[in-house]
Amino acid sequence: MQRLIILLLITLSVVSCKQNTNKQENGDEAETGYTLLNAYKTNNLDLNNRVVMAPMTRCRADNEGHVPTDLMAEYYAQRASAGLIITEMAIIAPNGYGFPDIPGIYTNEQIEGWKKIADKVHEKGGKIFMQIAHNGRRYVDPESEIIAPSAIPFKEGAVVPKAMSKVQIGQVAGEFATAAKNAINAGFDGVEIHAANGYLISQFLAKSANIRTDEYGGSIENRSRFLFEVLDSLANKVDMSKVAIRISPSLNESGIVDDEETQPLHEYVVKRLNDYNLAYLHISGRADKIKGEKEQAAHVLNIAKHYRQFYKGTYIINKGFTKETAEAAIKEGIADLVSFGHLYVSNPDLVERFRNNYPLTESNPKTFMAKGAEGYTDYPSYQKTN
Ligand SMILES: Cc1cc2nc3c(=O)[nH]c(=O)nc-3n(C[C@H](O)[C@H](O)[C@H](O)COP(=O)(O)O)c2cc1C
Repeated sequence: MQRLIILLLITLSVVSCKQNTNKQENGDEAETGYTLLNAYKTNNLDLNNRVVMAPMTRCRADNEGHVPTDLMAEYYAQRASAGLIITEMAIIAPNGYGFPDIPGIYTNEQIEGWKKIADKVHEKGGKIFMQIAHNGRRYVDPESEIIAPSAIPFKEGAVVPKAMSKVQIGQVAGEFATAAKNAINAGFDGVEIHAANGYLISQFLAKSANIRTDEYGGSIENRSRFLFEVLDSLANKVDMSKVAIRISPSLNESGIVDDEETQPLHEYVVKRLNDYNLAYLHISGRADKIKGEKEQAAHVLNIAKHYRQFYKGTYIINKGFTKETAEAAIKEGIADLVSFGHLYVSNPDLVERFRNNYPLTESNPKTFMAKGAEGYTDYPSYQKTN
């Protein structure tokens, strides 16, 4: 009997350790007791830890078909101990490329390439979501038609995009859904819709990029319409528990100008996202035009806290976090998971380094978007003999 009680107590403590923090009242910053290295489990996610690799474009799909390569598979597999990997953005249609040599997710060859990546990460016990994106006016190929909500270039001297027709808007929403289905068919655990950082969906949200006078422009509801049509389109094709979204409520760059409606619009969006049973909401932390490291960190944390109160599901925050600041944010219930960008470029074994307090390697920005293995797959795991 005594042994039975002890077993029951152990089982209960393991289960409570794996449960997510979403049950807390929103805005309640009472200590959760969870750490970065605790597992995370909800109906939609089952992760070994709360360390997330942030999406990062690395421009290594350097072939005509924008097909993910074996080198990319090696890169992601090296980072499989992350609780969750979110891939670089994968482009949903031929006119959606904003950088050279970034991968697509609309041809059979691309799907086959991504399959190898998902397989390799899964073989090593990892979980992986694909970020899916359309870059809109952030074009790279002036040969193809550049589309955007309105005919406003993203910077001076850039090609003036064509304002999308309503037919085109519906078409692109459908392309997002097909891309999501392709990603799931390729074995991905889910997709993250890229609605951040000044790309197509983010362009619809911003007054500075969207001056439409139809139902896709003007009011907060209208500017958010495309985002929700994309979500509804996905809902017809994939299980929404495998769908996530990334937004950047504090973006003030890339031709997107912060205005008096930026925060109310994002509050409206985040509240409505509760109606979809999403895998998670990921905030792209931005502190554009804010000077000073401390000030930037405080800004990112304020934004993270602010939006936490409106969202009931799994919440990922980002930008400039260290092991200590991420741990504090999770303990205080500000986030469920924290994503790391720069640190994942140069520390493939980031989780092990956090766990053992091993030193971190700095990344070299010159090779972020270079060619080949240099600055990509040649950052070693930490060797204790160092
Ligand atoms: C080289 C590089 C490429 C990036 N590409 C993407 C991308 O494809 N999609 C995206 O949402 N964010 C992208 N980001 C932003 C990161 O996801 C992250 O928000 C940013 O690096 C801040 O987090 P950190 O301070 O932990 O690095 C990129 C960042 C870097 C450094």
